[in-house]
Amino acid sequence: MSEYDENKSHEIAPGIYWVGFADKNAGFSNNPYLIIDSDGTGILIDPGSRADEHFNIVKRKVGELISFEQIKYIIVHHQDPDLCASIPLFEELIGVDNVKIITTLRTSLFIPYYGSKAEIIIIEDGDEFELPSGRILKFITTPYVHFAGSFVTFDTKEQVLFSSDIFAAFSFEWKLYADENYVQAVKAFTEPYIGCKEPVVSAAKKMLTLPIKIIAPQHGSVIKEDLEKYINALFEMEYGAWL
Ligand SMILES: [Fe+2]
Ligand SMILES: [Fe+2]
Repeated sequence: MSEYDENKSHEIAPGIYWVGFADKNAGFSNNPYLIIDSDGTGILIDPGSRADEHFNIVKRKVGELISFEQIKYIIVHHQDPDLCASIPLFEELIGVDNVKIITTLRTSLFIPYYGSKAEIIIIEDGDEFELPSGRILKFITTPYVHFAGSFVTFDTKEQVLFSSDIFAAFSFEWKLYADENYVQAVKAFTEPYIGCKEPVVSAAKKMLTLPIKIIAPQHGSVIKEDLEKYINALFEMEYGAWL
């Protein structure tokens, strides 16, 4: 049993909320996050599935924390449906003209296939994006981990890395925070789902240059201890397990 209630949102750092859900049938948690900046600007990160049983949970949690019109940006780390199929539904709630999507050029090509109509801001490796409060988000591309246009986002204020599918894990038992078994759980997801080592090593080297305090992946658990242990473990894994 987790000490955290999966039916509630959880503040993982000041103003940064886990608004996800545990899909126990699939053994998969899905972890959209919401940043509420000091001036009230909302940034939704990887908003998740559009299936009713998933979307309604995320919508309720977000709606309990912020009014939808406050959400000005949706960050989309790659185009997988588990990560962003709900974008058009959020565009409807927010107002399509009031929200912008932030992603890479390669990922941006796929977003309209979900029916998304919002303006897209294209980012490149190392770009720093200044929010109205002056807070800086830094974007780091992670090509081929696991899509050509993949990237991760580092919030310089709270030093949280939103790592998308990097450090993801399957988990029939949902836990908000990683425990001592989580390196093994990351390995069990990563080795079959990521095809080869070189792109991951490139991503890991970039991550090691950042002063990260918390890693917030799109599946599995939030990591707030022994971060270097997790990043270093990426150098040791056997990728492409199904070859
Ligand atoms: Fe993915
Ligand atoms: Fe994913």
